[in-house]
Amino acid sequence: MVSGSGTNLQAILDAVKAGELNAEIAAVGADKPCTGLDRAAAAGVETFLIEPADYADREQWNRALEEKIASYTPDYVVFAGFMRIVDAQLVARFENRIINTHPALLPAFPGAHGVRDALAHGVKITGLTVHFVDSGVDTGTIIAQAAVPVEAGDTEESLHERIKVQERWLLVRTLAEFAALPNPQNP
Ligand code: GRF
Repeated sequence: MVSGSGTNLQAILDAVKAGELNAEIAAVGADKPCTGLDRAAAAGVETFLIEPADYADREQWNRALEEKIASYTPDYVVFAGFMRIVDAQLVARFENRIINTHPALLPAFPGAHGVRDALAHGVKITGLTVHFVDSGVDTGTIIAQAAVPVEAGDTEESLHERIKVQERWLLVRTLAEFAALPNPQNP
């Protein structure tokens, strides 16, 4: 699932193509039209769009998203820059199978502005976290982390770009480790 530029997704697509990640990407979904979806389409991967504005309320949107994801019977669901909170029912449906990446060292700086908040706090080291999604906001079990130093003169953009370089690498590496494990749906 993506919401934005999709560079994390691109890293996954490239790793699969290069044979460095033994996975099949069943589909890429988004909550709005975005470059991430275009990247998936360009790679020949099936795409879908489930926009909140098309549903009566957040509950209906969650159910539509849950059913759409389930229709692909995925082993894992990756939130690669997917900027939406999903509800507890959707999380339970894919318990310990939804993997998110967050651009801060959780449990510090959860939420939509992890990079901005870390910079505003004045931390000297921040980073990224790959974690399972639970029903809280960026509170699920931590799978992997990497640290990124804050440099003098960093802006939110410059810091986020350096974090994303590490994020793409760590996300692909983490997925490769999961891909080597027994199938979580049929262990
Ligand atoms: C990543 O830093 C992700 O952690 C955050 O948004 C960014 C998405 O980047 N939630 P991209 O769309 O993969 O380029």
